[in-house]
Amino acid sequence: MAEPLRPRSAVLDMAPYSPPTAGRAGKLRLDFNENTIGCSPRVIEFLRQQLSSGGLSIYPEYGEARQELSAFFGVQPKELLLTNGTDEAIQVVINTYVDDGDEVLLLKPSYAMYRFYAEVAAARIRELAYRPENLEFPLEELLAAIRPETRAVIVANPNNPTGTAVSLDGIEQILQQAPATAVMIDEAYYEFSGITALGLLPRYPNLFVSRTFSKVYGMAAMRLGCVFSRADNIACLHKAQSPYSVNALAALAAREAVRDRDYIARYVEEALAARDLLYGELERLGIPHYPSAANFVLARFGQRAIEVRDRLREAGVLVRDRSYELPGCVRITVGSREQVRRLVTLLEEIW
Ligand SMILES: Cc1ncc(COP(=O)(O)O)c(C=O)c1O
Repeated sequence: MAEPLRPRSAVLDMAPYSPPTAGRAGKLRLDFNENTIGCSPRVIEFLRQQLSSGGLSIYPEYGEARQELSAFFGVQPKELLLTNGTDEAIQVVINTYVDDGDEVLLLKPSYAMYRFYAEVAAARIRELAYRPENLEFPLEELLAAIRPETRAVIVANPNNPTGTAVSLDGIEQILQQAPATAVMIDEAYYEFSGITALGLLPRYPNLFVSRTFSKVYGMAAMRLGCVFSRADNIACLHKAQSPYSVNALAALAAREAVRDRDYIARYVEEALAARDLLYGELERLGIPHYPSAANFVLARFGQRAIEVRDRLREAGVLVRDRSYELPGCVRITVGSREQVRRLVTLLEEIW
């Protein structure tokens, strides 16, 4: 028998990452911070109209999507790269700027894919903790931790799973402290926080901002994201990206998704009202929780975290256990007030 092939050490050393994505259909999915109602019906209608066998037989072209999306986001087409979800944006930024053994500075806990792609790239990862007492962004600690050799810093703003955010002023301080570092601000939940670093792009050549169609736009299955930076940086990212990684249907869907601004505005309004309702109900039930700038709330069930998650699942409601990184904590996505009421009725029985 031949010896099994040995993967690169970087891959061998990685812990497997397998989010619990199986068996979610038909349940109330408050576990992945998706849009819990679904995308705009106009997106589905547009795809129906545009779908043709001729269209499917050709490799995707991104010109129109790039034009329309850059106008929507208020940047030049050359300052935007479409990506296969934010995940590919992270991958491409790391692959473009980080060599084996280079330092990547991350926060923890945060979105798992930063570490994932940094590990695949064999980067040297340094992690700073969110402040344990209130899970606030550790700005001073981060500023002190940035070194000339730091090649990349990746910040989710607001952060998943803590829900906490850093101010625009804080982001500028990071950019000034790290002029030779790729600073990536992942704005997957921007629509709920209203804080964006996009306006800083003209002033900071080391800034990368990402957005996604997986959250408020309700298109997680499409896998579409965007990364914004100066045109010369985007040209470099483009070189490191495979040419057709975004599928044509995703690019089409996004064009209609941004046209239906009312749908998005209404969803955000509902989710924010639902978040307020959830805060109040958690308060009433005596369940500690953290204020959030996103469409999810981190609640502390203590020793009973896993039990609560499991009992909710038995009743058809999915939430995400985070106790392996934040003891006793469960992350709850908010969508509509009606969904919050359904969750709370169950919590009243369980808690
Ligand atoms: C901070 C953050 N960034 C990005 C993503 C995923 O983005 P995408 O689906 O665009 O790859 C998530 C999803 O949970 C997230 O929490």
